[in-house]
Amino acid sequence: MATAEQIKSLIRSHYSDDLERFYTLALQVASYEARQGHTALALDIRNIVDAERKKAGPRVVIPFPRDLKGLVLTEEPSVPLAAMVMPTEICGRLDRIIHEYRQQNKLKSHGLQHRRKLLLIGAPGTGKTMTARVLAKELHLPLHTIQVDRLVTKFMGETSAKLRQIFDMIQQEHAVYLFDEFDAIGGDRSNDNDVGEMRRVLNAFLQFIEQDTSDSLIVAATNNPKLLDKALYRRFDDVLYYELPDSKQRKTLIANVLALFQSPGFAWKKILQQSEGLSHAEIDIACRDAIKVAILADRSNVSGDELLQSLKEKQNTHTK
Ligand SMILES: Nc1ncnc2c1ncn2[C@@H]1O[C@H](COP(=O)(O)OP(=O)(O)OP(=O)(O)O)[C@@H](O)[C@H]1O
Ligand SMILES: [Mg+2]
Repeated sequence: MATAEQIKSLIRSHYSDDLERFYTLALQVASYEARQGHTALALDIRNIVDAERKKAGPRVVIPFPRDLKGLVLTEEPSVPLAAMVMPTEICGRLDRIIHEYRQQNKLKSHGLQHRRKLLLIGAPGTGKTMTARVLAKELHLPLHTIQVDRLVTKFMGETSAKLRQIFDMIQQEHAVYLFDEFDAIGGDRSNDNDVGEMRRVLNAFLQFIEQDTSDSLIVAATNNPKLLDKALYRRFDDVLYYELPDSKQRKTLIANVLALFQSPGFAWKKILQQSEGLSHAEIDIACRDAIKVAILADRSNVSGDELLQSLKEKQNTHTK
């Protein structure tokens, strides 16, 4: 049961007419109950609060506690799903996540939860962070990015306590929460050089994510899957693997980024060869570099040679 302090605070906030405070406290009770293992009760409380909030009007953004500042970056992304170039399989899986989120009440009425704990694994620059942005945009939610490496290095010793605060926030404010560079806490617990503190942090994370009954989306991203503890995988509803773009994706990406700057009659064969092995992010930058050259030369088209040149530069930095 909720603590005496929580019950008193709830009653006080009710009489002080501070509805937002009342919601926050009710959600704190829900997360407290979830931690005690009373997940059904936690879910019931959340559903009651959600239903009342829906009646009360638009979503209210709760500010992060002051001591989490610097650890969490908040943005309202505007990147649509259509901007992402990816294999049909990943696209289908993102579509399913979005669809289940939008139809969550239907699922809940049958005792089911929408998929909302995601692990994204893949090479740098292949769209993991972009995916979190796209999901936030498509679901009309803010994106809170937790800087896991800072959480671990700066607050060593109190990392588990900070994580708890973050999971309390996850219960209280519906949003997309991205744990970027997740391997900093997701390290293999059997690693020889692992310090005891990290083991505790990972155990705390596993427990929090398991107990989480919020409607928020939790996205963890890493380009270092070998460091991840095997116990983590089953805590996620979906594990998505991101790869370097194949030639079809490279062509789509280049055409998308160049858009009106693309000259007719591009030597695609050479361009696709020159871009092989580069990430989406590197190709994106090479295209923008070529556009800059055209603009500064007062031209409205990027020539095939200019693009080849900037792709070559990216290949060179790549191999260095
Ligand atoms: N699949 C993609 N489709 C279109 N553009 C992409 C894609 N992936 C990356 N980009 C471009 O590259 C930029 C950087 O990508 P992003 O930050 O998502 O990579 P990441 O996988 O998170 O890399 P890292 O592992 O280094 O964090 C994006 O903002 C976008 O402009
Ligand atoms: Mg990233």
